[in-house]
This record gives sequence, structure tokens and C-alpha cells, in this order.
Amino acid sequence: MAALGDDLLRVVNQLQDLVFNTIGSDSLDLPQIVVVGSQSAGKSSVLENIVGRDFLPRGSGIVTRRPLILQLINVEEDESEPDPHAAYRNATQARRSEWAEFHHIPSRRFTDFGDVKREIENETSRVAGSNKGINRQPINLKIYSPHVLNLTLVDLPGLTKVRLRAYRRPASRHRKTDENTDIRVHCEAKQHRPGSFARKRDIVNSEALKLARHVDPLGRRTIGVLTKVDLMDHGTNALDILSGRVYPLKLGFVGVVNRSQQDIQGNRPMEEALKAETEFFRHHPAYRNIAARCGTQFLAKQLNQTLMAHIRERLPDIKARLNTLMGQTQQELASYGDMHFSGKEHRGSMILQLMTRFATSFISSIDGTSTDIST
Ligand code: GDP
Ligand code: NA
Ligand code: MG
Repeated sequence: MAALGDDLLRVVNQLQDLVFNTIGSDSLDLPQIVVVGSQSAGKSSVLENIVGRDFLPRGSGIVTRRPLILQLINVEEDESEPDPHAAYRNATQARRSEWAEFHHIPSRRFTDFGDVKREIENETSRVAGSNKGINRQPINLKIYSPHVLNLTLVDLPGLTKVRLRAYRRPASRHRKTDENTDIRVHCEAKQHRPGSFARKRDIVNSEALKLARHVDPLGRRTIGVLTKVDLMDHGTNALDILSGRVYPLKLGFVGVVNRSQQDIQGNRPMEEALKAETEFFRHHPAYRNIAARCGTQFLAKQLNQTLMAHIRERLPDIKARLNTLMGQTQQELASYGDMHFSGKEHRGSMILQLMTRFATSFISSIDGTSTDIST
């Protein structure tokens, strides 16, 4: 079953790519996982932990200033030649057969994740300016690695009251802001306030959770992530939240420990931090009984399963959209009419061919039937 699921996600990712490269990113409205939460709640840190690499700009201010659409693509480990320099690589460098690609620099393969971070910073400043400006135009990044599950994740700038409204507005004329199709990872951080009552009130009233409630009133597509569990004074408050007694979400709350700012500045290796996270939950008196349902690894698995289930649920809709898109492309091709053979026409028919091929494999991988997509 797991293999089938992975195939499905791979085809979904390919399809997403194809549609992005040809028609525009939002036209298929494929389900994705969107990370939300207030500023500095640890959204970028959670994303990094899921990837297991240090590659996102992070910090206490507004650091993420453009949406980042991150596709994780699982590839086979390359065992053929051992890496002679393995012992000398620094913390930001990729292991063998791990690399990143930006949509805006298609020709370049990034193997140093420090370069990835710098490119995100440069590309952010290029469009959003070098100050605190926020721009809605996304950066598209793909990470290929044997150590990731196939997932598409979106990192959004921190939400403030004003920006909440901005995100509710339609993203483009093609797309109603149908956040109903996304799975939301809602990050909440510990607040430095004593007492469980204050704590509960904080979390129920948090702006980000209000938004989550607005787009997902029944809490069915929102996974709660409680960050900074290491900074909480006692386990009891966190246990209330993690067990769903404070705010009920169907998919539950998962506690995580990301790297602190000090860890980041000291270049604490990601792998070490992830191990420490596992140990933290395993040995903590308050959490050891639920340790199997805590931490980044568990979160990544949950996300993958949730996304798969959600894609299955939405298949009829995706199929219909795919058919419409193909119809439109066919019409556009027909409208070129008797024009001489042109680059445009050639490109159009290539796109159509590609789409047909993907659509066919997409749909048969979904429901096991071969469907005539051209009708
Ligand atoms: P974002 O604004 O939501 O993307 O938050 P960031 O991921 O940039 O994190 C903000 C700050 O909180 C950074 O300095 C992180 O190092 C720190 N931080 C995030 N998660 C944790 C955590 O679980 N524990 C600790 N101690 N610090 C964290
Ligand atoms: Na931040
Ligand atoms: Mg961020």
C-alpha cells in the first residue's frame, strides 16, 4: 500500500510541475500542505526538520517574506561510489544523491544547502525588497533526496492580523482562495506566560488558530504542531494540548522540538538535533508515554498519510479539472488553425502530448482503470 501511495504522490508532483510550467501553478488546484502560524512560531524550522537539512532563512523577525512552495521528491540512494570527501563536508552540504533545484534557475543543481538558503534570501530581496516587505509571488523549490517522503509543502510568511485578511483574498482571478483543499499545519509556540488557564486561552485565541477555524471549521484538515516544547516549564500544559483537550483537531496536535536560535548560530548539525528531539520525548517524564506520537518523524509520516488520503478523496474533482484543462489546450491548439508551423504550435502540441501521457498514468495509478481522457 505504501508503495502505491508513493507512486500516486510522485505522479501528482509531476502533474503539478507540468501544469505549473505550462498553464500556471494554480489551475489544477492540487492538494498541498500549507504551514501556518504566527510569526516566529517555528514554521520554517518545522519545514527544515521534515527535510532534515539546514536550508531555510530563519530568525526572530519577519524572515520568510515570500511563500515558498517546496516539493520533496524521494529518490533512490546512489550506492555506486562511496563519497571520498564524506568526512570533510560541512553541516550545510548535501549528502550524495541529494540536491535542490529552483524553478527560476532551471539549469542549476544545488548540492550545497547553504547556497540554497542564500538563493532564497537573494530571490526574496529581488522581488520583495531588502527590508520587511512581503510579496505574494511564490518561490518554487524542489529537493531530491533519499531521506524525504514525497510531499509538497508551502511555507508562508508569518501571519499578523492585517495579513490574515490578505491571505483570505483570492490569490488570482483563476483561483478562489479555496483553502478548503489544503491540509494545514498549524504551528503554535509556547508563550512565556505562567499558568495553564492563560496557556489554554492563548492557544484558543491565537490569530493563526482563528484562521484555521475560519477555513476549516470542523478541524478536519488541520494538523496542530506544538513547537518549542523544550521551552515549556512543565509537561502538564503541553499534555493538555497534545491530547486534544484544549482545542480538538481531528488530526491531532504533535509536539516538536526544533533547533533554537543558539543551535542555528552554532551550526548544530540537523541530524544531531533530530536525535536529541527523539531522546527528549523518549526520556521526558511527561511525554515518554506518548513519545511514539511526538516529534518530527511522526509528524512527517502523519502528513504523508493525510495528504494521500486527501488526494484520494479529491480525485473525482481533480479528474474533472484535468479534463477541462486538456479541453482548453486542445481548443487553443485548434485556434492556431492554418497558421504556418510555428514554434508556438509546436510547443502547444508538445504540451498536449505530455499532459495526455501524465493524465493517463495519473488516472490509472489512482483508480486502476485506464481511462480515455480525450473524451
Ligand atoms: P517562523 O517565523 O514561524 O518561520 O519561525 P522560525 O522557524 O524562523 O523560528 C523562529 C525562532 O524560534 C528561531 O530562532 C528558531 O531557532 C526558534 N525556534 C523554533 N522552534 C523552536 C523550538 O522548538 N525550540 C526552540 N528552543 N527554539 C525554536
Ligand atoms: Na521568524
Ligand atoms: Mg519563517
